[in-house]
Amino acid sequence: MRVEFSGRDLISMRELSRQEIEHILNAAERTEFSGDMLKGRLMSTLFFEPSTRTRLSFETAMKRLGGEVVGFSKPGAASLSKGENLTDTIKTVSCYSDVIVLRHPREGAARLAAEVSDVPVINAGDGSNQHPTQALTDLYTIRREHGRLNVSVAMVGDLKYARTVRSLGHGLAKFGARLLLTSPPGLEMSEELCAELEGMGAKVEVCSSIEEAVENADVLYVTRIQKERFPDPEEYRKVQGAYRITPELLEIAKPGMVVLHPLPRVDEISPEVDHTERARYFHQVRNSIPIRMAVLTLLLGVV
Ligand code: NCD
Repeated sequence: MRVEFSGRDLISMRELSRQEIEHILNAAERTEFSGDMLKGRLMSTLFFEPSTRTRLSFETAMKRLGGEVVGFSKPGAASLSKGENLTDTIKTVSCYSDVIVLRHPREGAARLAAEVSDVPVINAGDGSNQHPTQALTDLYTIRREHGRLNVSVAMVGDLKYARTVRSLGHGLAKFGARLLLTSPPGLEMSEELCAELEGMGAKVEVCSSIEEAVENADVLYVTRIQKERFPDPEEYRKVQGAYRITPELLEIAKPGMVVLHPLPRVDEISPEVDHTERARYFHQVRNSIPIRMAVLTLLLGVV
């Protein structure tokens, strides 16, 4: 079956088949990108939530391919602060640009945007829901390390609110990965999501301790507690600092086990881990560029 991406949106990892995911990873791996592939094309970045890596790496990918970028990173500066609704903003921006990259605090915002946009929409994070290009970056990093994706991935931290966990879970499930879950009380992955991931092909196991997860993993995927998603700040204070990955903890890990984190980190990975052979979170940052180049060229139909 031919994989066709031209003109499509990228909203959720749910809707990508295993074959389509492999197609994107292979395109990124080939890195046959040239500096004028997207010459004359314009990408809009509409960021209604803070971002460092996602916005800058999309901009870097676009500019390295010869494209142009417009957008905003502070919604207060856009007409939304005058009361304009998201659909009018998207309809307007889709008149100017060839592709829209949207980050929004509301779940479902990217889907809504895709419905009213005439050009492809890429979801760069919608609330606690999805962040597909981060998941593709994570899958790419795992495949480069282990040569396969049916590995054991320990997911540590905020499994309730982290959209990166949800997206990566959907991606890994399609490859039959084993997911070892460990989180502070109250931040567990919902039963609904666990069941969905199992239905998609994952083997989901809840670990009774972080040590159990570390010992059995090929990949340790650590996440930040998503403070901004807590309805009650008191609830955040109860779990703040509940886990911390240190070089001592990693001594029990299997040879070849690597530590990933979508970043930003707060205090969940001690800086001493950066100097160990396990750390791969800055590799992820680097890997996000070929992935976003691949996604942009595929959706814009130039490869
Ligand atoms: C993540 C996000 O925005 O979901 N950051 C990112 O894009 N790399 C993770 C986070 O904010 O914790």
